Formats: sequence, structure tokens, C-alpha cells
Amino acid sequence: MKTSVYDCVILPLNKIHNRAGNITIVEGRENVPFDVKRIYYLYDIPGGEDRGGHAHKELRQLIVAASGSFNVLLDDGQNKKIVTLNRPDYGLMVVPGIWRELMEFSSGAICLVLASEGYDENDYERKYDEFVKFKTLV
Ligand code: TYD
Repeated sequence: MKTSVYDCVILPLNKIHNRAGNITIVEGRENVPFDVKRIYYLYDIPGGEDRGGHAHKELRQLIVAASGSFNVLLDDGQNKKIVTLNRPDYGLMVVPGIWRELMEFSSGAICLVLASEGYDENDYERKYDEFVKFKTLV
């Protein structure tokens, strides 16, 4: 899987604003380039804790800081990139075959994830050395 960190881009989302606040709408294949099959969110993350620490084989994701901020470290086995997410109207698209770590969560941060597939533990690579080995073979 020859994906690189440079395939993981920030997608601007829409924002409808009025005096009562904002609404952002995400629709599969409209403003995110895959059908959304699953949504999950991370919250109540204790200070100093990291999440992620894995790659996916097929899964595509859009990661949004629905509240607060955090950093996403992306790694394709050769290049690394750190993206700060801190706005609910921007999402980071993460393509398959990218190691990711989520870190430096602000207090009360909510990490919203829109995923292209259902949960499948077989789609995870959780060992970094295996991930790198796999990336160098492709
Ligand atoms: P994991 O994806 O490892 O979390 P993170 O990358 O945020 O650190 O998932 C944590 C646990 O939750 C793990 O036991 C698998 C389980 N899980 C599900 O059962 N279904 C899901 O959709 C997700 C995302 C996780």
C-alpha cells in the first residue's frame, strides 16, 4: 500500500452560522470522499494520555476536533507529519496504511471520527515494526 502522509489532507467542512451558533454537516461522498459506515468519538481523555498507535489496512477516516484540540502524528514508514486539529469545521482525512498517534489532547477535547468501514480488529496493525516491514514490502 503505497500511501504516504501527504495523501492525508485537511478537508474544510461547511459551517452554517447564525446568532444561535454553528452547524457543520458531513455527508458521505458529498464533502468526505467515502461512504460513512461508522462514527465514534473519544472524550474524557485524561491529561497526558495518547491514543491511536496503530495503522489500518483498508479503513479511511475523517478525524475532527469536535471540541478542544489535539495533535495527530502521521507516519508512513518514511515520512512523519504532525497535524494540529482545533476547529470543528475542518477534518483530517487519514488514508489506509498510515500509522497514527493522537496526543496532546486539551482538557475536554472531543475527537470525532467518521469511518468508511465497520469495526474489524483484523483491519488494524498495532505493531509498529510490523507496520514498517509491511510498508517497505509494498
Ligand atoms: P482503538 O481503536 O484501539 O482506540 P484508539 O486508537 O483511540 O486508542 O479502540 C479501543 C478499544 O475500543 C479496543 O478495545 C477496540 C474497541 N473498539 C470497538 O469495539 N469498536 C470500535 O468501533 C472502535 C473504534 C474501538
